[in-house]
Amino acid sequence: MPTEPPRSSKKASDTFPQPSAEAIAHSNKVKERIIAAIESAGGKISFEAYMNLALYAPGLGYYSAGLKKFGRLGDFITAPEISPLFSQCLAIQCRHIMQQSGLSTLLEVGAGSGIMAIDIMQELERQDSLPEQYLILELSADLRDRQQKAIEDKIPHLASRFHWLDQLPARPFNGIVIANELLDALPVHLLRLSGTQSFERFVALDKEQEFIWQDQSIEEPRLNTIADEVRDIHLSMQTLNDKPGQDYITEVNLLAMDWISSIADIMEQGAVLLVDYGYTAREYYHPQRFMGTLMCHYQHHRHDDPFYLPGMQDITAHINFSHIARSAEATGLTLCGFTTQAHFLMAGGLVELTRDLDPEDVVHFTETARQIKMLTLPEEMGELFKVILLAKGKPLSLPAFQFQDFSQRL
Ligand SMILES: C[S@@+](CC[C@H](N)C(=O)[O-])C[C@H]1O[C@@H](n2cnc3c(N)ncnc32)[C@H](O)[C@@H]1O
Repeated sequence: MPTEPPRSSKKASDTFPQPSAEAIAHSNKVKERIIAAIESAGGKISFEAYMNLALYAPGLGYYSAGLKKFGRLGDFITAPEISPLFSQCLAIQCRHIMQQSGLSTLLEVGAGSGIMAIDIMQELERQDSLPEQYLILELSADLRDRQQKAIEDKIPHLASRFHWLDQLPARPFNGIVIANELLDALPVHLLRLSGTQSFERFVALDKEQEFIWQDQSIEEPRLNTIADEVRDIHLSMQTLNDKPGQDYITEVNLLAMDWISSIADIMEQGAVLLVDYGYTAREYYHPQRFMGTLMCHYQHHRHDDPFYLPGMQDITAHINFSHIARSAEATGLTLCGFTTQAHFLMAGGLVELTRDLDPEDVVHFTETARQIKMLTLPEEMGELFKVILLAKGKPLSLPAFQFQDFSQRL
């Protein structure tokens, strides 16, 4: 394949970073892998299958191929990479759960660079509340490797408490499951509602072997049910046809719903604490959100073309927390709290953790203030990011949900 920048519209703009020849060559390999999948499937694959290959094709996909993804040198930045305060607040809530339940196992799923695990364990050590074990389930072999090195490097004295899993633990699992920005990285199905018809979006190839959309009537019953739910929400807002002729595109994260159900299945007693960006169903499927929430990140530039540089850019969709709560409750978990990241952090320890900051130490003080703003301001991560708490066995009550609990909106 040619080592020229791929065909693109917005990406040709002056400010959009131009990929290196190496990046294009790598992306071409990923593209070949996806083309082979399309051809062997008879001409098209679901968008979920496309996203799965672009992100996770072994050794090739965005998360699997050893790229620098997180932080300033990567494509996007997550809360634990912004500030240790985020993980310290999570640690404080985990300590409350351990005290209320007697549990002593943490399981982090999708641990990225490993920094959240390190900061949580350091905070729990400071509070003399270390769990017996900290399990990590990470899909990407490359990231797992990086997590192991970071833990050996930063907290060697705690390394023996860490264990990496290849799959969810067997039932009965007793412990606390935590994940930051895991669910938004799971591949989604795309739907297009057009008038009274509902389609699922597939990925096919044009004559030049470029990716194109191919839509077909929905076959998967769960997707049909959700298409009906979207229409019901639009009807209830009395704006079914807000803009005549305007199609409505949205995402459905069946994998996230299945994931929470499988956690419920293995859990005997425990808690699940998830942080991610997203909305309740009524906000998610609001008529005005007619382009959906699918987003791509390339070197801190955001755009909406998932066919651009497959394997080199992140592809993500917001989380429908109503679907997560519903799937969880249907499989035996209890909803114990739902709030914004800002409320969670402010009520969950941020104030206490920063009380003794010394304003005379100007550099540290200013930097910490910047981090807190990023984590909590409504126009940064404060409102878009939400935290949901689910439990099995003993009901839980955490300080972090005591400022505001929006559970009834789910
Ligand atoms: C957006 S990153 C977030 C990383 C980290 N939690 C953070 O906040 O910086 C998503 C992470 O989830 C991992 N991941 C995706 N699907 C997974 C799955 N099914 N099981 C375990 N890890 C998964 C990815 O490899 C990656 O580490």
